[in-house]
Amino acid sequence: MNKTIALIYGDCSSPEIVTQAVRVLDKIAEKYGHTFTYTRAYMGGEAIDKFGDPLPQSQLNICLASDSVLLGAVGGPKWEGMPGDKRPEKGLLRLRAGMGLYSNNRPAKIWPQLADASPLKPSIVEKGIDFIVVRELIGGVYFGEHKTIEENGEKKAIDTMPYSEHEIERIGRIGFETAMKRRKKLTCVDKANVLDTSRLWRVVMHRLAAEYPEVEYGEMFVDNAAMQICKNPSQFDVIVTENMFGDILSDEASEITGSIGMVPSSSLGAGTCGLYEPIHGSAPDIAGQDVVNPIACILSAAMMLRFSFGMSAEADAIEAAVSAVLDDGLRTADLYHGEPGTTKVGTAAVTDAILAKL
Ligand code: IPM
Ligand code: MG
Repeated sequence: MNKTIALIYGDCSSPEIVTQAVRVLDKIAEKYGHTFTYTRAYMGGEAIDKFGDPLPQSQLNICLASDSVLLGAVGGPKWEGMPGDKRPEKGLLRLRAGMGLYSNNRPAKIWPQLADASPLKPSIVEKGIDFIVVRELIGGVYFGEHKTIEENGEKKAIDTMPYSEHEIERIGRIGFETAMKRRKKLTCVDKANVLDTSRLWRVVMHRLAAEYPEVEYGEMFVDNAAMQICKNPSQFDVIVTENMFGDILSDEASEITGSIGMVPSSSLGAGTCGLYEPIHGSAPDIAGQDVVNPIACILSAAMMLRFSFGMSAEADAIEAAVSAVLDDGLRTADLYHGEPGTTKVGTAAVTDAILAKL
């Protein structure tokens, strides 16, 4: 197959991981007879530096013209003082919206080799951690009106959180469909005891639940969910939730699996052109030292092969290679705790090992 992949190298330590993911994609292309053509798009801090804008239309167009987009992460101290609409993060939000990617899938799964790295007690981890956070990605408070006004001699900031029925329905459906392919359990996480948006979510989710009688559907307040994720994570199969709750809970969910450096994500809309990115940030503190963990980005590339290109065997091969490297005891700094049988390796070396398994 011939596929065009837009690469966004991103900021700080991000170019290091995207570079490694491309090496893995090249190996897959060679082995399975595909041709991957890369186009480069700039977004985030690198786009601010080059164009004075975190996502110029020209760069969004490159992404829209591709078969899918692979991204590392954006942001960093250099751009911290920028006004809200000129920050690197705004480029990412505009990219997601511009591509219509309303559905973000963030798996939280324990790698058996890394069970010791989980901050949770073994008695909790042993029960299994394997769930997915389906996060609504282009609505809610991240996309509502933001403003700061003067009132009674002081500043007042206002962020609004809008959701309309069709936005809830399309992501709710993804939640049910995802559950149908798994253990058929769906939890809608909200704050329906306080928020109107959450109450509307529940109305729409109830309508959908009637269409999916096989799915065991439940609802949970977000504060309780945050607690349950660390107290009893094995109860979850699929969580569906609005944008900000999903942002917060997916970081928590990733950390209990051992390291945020291992968690990939996919973002999709109506078509097959998606955005694939690790859920972690740009790790400015460790940039340029060959220590950042490239695995979340490599696994994001695997998700791209699986979900956008229908290349399941290729995706399986990458995931198996990562698992084999963990079996061999190779650990990047974020995963290394000096256990017997483990060796600390750098960004390029862990990728070399993954390539050797492919
Ligand atoms: C994420 C990030 C982004 C988000 C930021 C960088 C805008 O935290 O992908 O989780 O909030 O969506
Ligand atoms: Mg986040």
